[in-house]
Amino acid sequence: MEHEVRAEPVNTVAGSAGLVVVSNRLPVRLEEDGTGSRWRTSPGGLVAALTPVLRGRDGVWVGWSGQPGHVRHPATHEGIALHAVPISDEELDDFYVGFSNGTLWPLYHDAIRSPSFERRWWQAYVTVNHRYAEAAAAAAGHGATVWVHDYHLQLVPMMLRGLRPDVRIGFFLHIPFPPQELFVQLPWRREIIEGLLGADLVGFQVPGAASNFSRLARRLTDAGSAEDGLHHDGRIVRVGAFPISIDAAELEARATDPAVLARAQGLRHDLGDPQVMLLGVDRLDYTKGIEQRVRAVGELFEEETLRTGEHVMVQIAVPSREDDAHYQAERDDLERLVGEVNGRFSTVGHPAIHYLHRSVPFDELVALYLAADVMLVTPLRDGMNLVAKEYVTARTDATGALVLSEFAGAARELRQAILVNPHDLDGIKGAIRLAIELEPGDARSRMRRLRRVVRNADVYAWAQSFLTALQQRAEIVLP
Ligand code: ADP
Ligand code: G6P
Repeated sequence: MEHEVRAEPVNTVAGSAGLVVVSNRLPVRLEEDGTGSRWRTSPGGLVAALTPVLRGRDGVWVGWSGQPGHVRHPATHEGIALHAVPISDEELDDFYVGFSNGTLWPLYHDAIRSPSFERRWWQAYVTVNHRYAEAAAAAAGHGATVWVHDYHLQLVPMMLRGLRPDVRIGFFLHIPFPPQELFVQLPWRREIIEGLLGADLVGFQVPGAASNFSRLARRLTDAGSAEDGLHHDGRIVRVGAFPISIDAAELEARATDPAVLARAQGLRHDLGDPQVMLLGVDRLDYTKGIEQRVRAVGELFEEETLRTGEHVMVQIAVPSREDDAHYQAERDDLERLVGEVNGRFSTVGHPAIHYLHRSVPFDELVALYLAADVMLVTPLRDGMNLVAKEYVTARTDATGALVLSEFAGAARELRQAILVNPHDLDGIKGAIRLAIELEPGDARSRMRRLRRVVRNADVYAWAQSFLTALQQRAEIVLP
């Protein structure tokens, strides 16, 4: 999603906010292009979900501007007050690229890539988490609610409690929380669990993640079981699953806008009016299973289940974490693979796969959802996956088919999707065949049920349920 934001002086709301959201990134980041730099909406599900929720509330968002050092950033984004936390160049290497994305991200995603354990990275993680805790403490009014987000900031709840015992602290993890066997590899495993136990409520995407955490807390700390959670250090820490979602009403409004509908038709026309358009939309991340999906599509072209001109795939790969070697390798491998498939099966004017390595404006994304007959969401592991929820919500006429990985959190709710094991190439091929051949009545009834699931549990319901549970924290202090 791209929104331009006006640069205004840094605002000074510190110490008065009733609701403070803290995440590594602010919802805007500075992007350079050939003509200069612009503030644009940050990519990813966290920002997509929290922005609509905060828009309607009088809150402050504490996070990083996307640039090293002190940066003059916009005071607000979509009416939300922004409060930047400075991070130096060296800290970016050690805290962000290093501990957050080189240790925690792979470890929490089934160790799809080997996590690295570097003591210097851990030191930076502690230092930067402390800075976020101080920034949150400075922004929060007396008795405020502070909602901390994601794997970059797992020490903030405990640090903030030390600084501001008067505030209510919620923590929500957007990505998976790993099983014990993996988590215990982490040399700083007890410190991370204790950091999270500083919260009054710790929320996860799915119940399995919540029970992984509770088990680890009982094993690694003196926490014990309590109703709805744990007791630790004389307090109750509630633990639960709160599956995140999307602004379904807003997306439906975009998907029924005549200009967006016309653009969807135009896209199909530009693609040569194929019988079937397959679509993938992901940040370019090794957890998303993009290569497996492209490989499966390539084999289907080879077997002539898919035929150039009649069938086409569009893959949008949003640039992400490009300083990280794993991501550079993933991009190189994917681009080589797309090149191979296109080299073999494209004809002049009819590529088998259209590959776009860039972000697209939100209306264009919705037009792509509307144009696509089959949506391919095949992550090897994903906390939730909002793209899956967005696709079904955009299909207001209940046509289309969703192929969804069993290993995305969304698969727990979207049971009527065509579920696949993303490691099983034949399974992905079978799912694509099924999606293409689905009898229209069956396709409609599946899509109607999928749409109902998302409509009945949108992002506002998610935020409401988390914040309500946080307000209901047990007031009893144990002896
Ligand atoms: P992740 O958080 O891992 O990136 P999600 O699927 O949960 O994965 O969230 C991705 C979010 O980013 C979605 O809300 C989607 O609309 C948005 N998005 C994905 N691709 C693009 C794109 N090309 N341009 C703009 N926004 C995008
Ligand atoms: C995922 C994470 C977010 C993160 C986003 C984009 O959605 O859960 O915390 O912001 O990816 O990644 P980036 O590294 O660019 O912030």
